[in-house]
Order: sequence, then C-alpha cells, then structure tokens
Amino acid sequence: MYSEKVMDHFNNPRNMGEIENASGVGTVGNAKCGDIMRMYLDIDDNNVIQDVKFKTFGCGAAVATSSMATELVKGKTVQEALEVTNKAVMEALDGLPPVKVHCSLLAEEAIHAALWDYAEKNNITIEGLEKPVNDISEKEEEVEEEY
Ligand code: FES
Repeated sequence: MYSEKVMDHFNNPRNMGEIENASGVGTVGNAKCGDIMRMYLDIDDNNVIQDVKFKTFGCGAAVATSSMATELVKGKTVQEALEVTNKAVMEALDGLPPVKVHCSLLAEEAIHAALWDYAEKNNITIEGLEKPVNDISEKEEEVEEEY
C-alpha cells in the first residue's frame, strides 16, 4: 500500500523537532481527520532556508510527507520553497494512496503558513504566497478530485 520511501520517512523521520526563535512558524490542521502539523523555518538574510524542523500530530502519511517536505525545502530560497507543492512531495515519496493525498496537502500548507509568519514578522511580501488557512479540509476536496 505504501512505497518504500513513505515507510522509510515514517520510520526515520528527518528534521523532526522544533527551532527556538525560528524565523517563521506555521501550524495547520485538518478538522476532518484531526491531524495537526507545525513547521519551523530558520531563514538567513539572503532568504535561504538554513534549517527546518517539524512536529506532526497525525497519521503515518502526514509524518512521512512532513519529513520529505522538510528535505525538499532545506537549503532553498523562500521563492524556491514556494514551488514545493503537495504534488512534488508526493512524487518524491513515490506516491501516496488516494485516501492519503490530503496528508501531503497539510505539509504544503504548513510550509506556506511558516513562510507567511516569516513575511509578517519582517514586514515583507512574498510574491505568490497566499494567506494560509488554519483548516485545510475545505481545500482537500478540490485536490482529491484531481487525482
Ligand atoms: Fe489526515 Fe493523514 S489522515 S493527515
């Protein structure tokens, strides 16, 4: 049911934990399944993500997608990190079962929420970044139709 990569990231999650005094912190949840994900970003003066950590109170696929998402954004610029969509996370994990697609959306949205927090703290606008939602369960229906 799950790819080897999903199992690997679930069993050995990368970058789990938190960052003290992070440049940006984002928390999103899904009211339908009750899962919550929090992302911490450490961003330097050149807008490069130097460090990223996550905490996920959720299902195994949510843990695996958060872990993979942290690997994909680490070392990237803020603009590049915006391109890390839930689809990119899923592809990097060699796919997810259709009922678990929404878990990857939580990872994308948590990164966006952390970037939003960073932008607000620094009084800047990140081009292409939309205000994140706290509960992604509304967005989820649109996404599931695509797969
Ligand atoms: Fe909701 Fe996985 S079941 S995030």
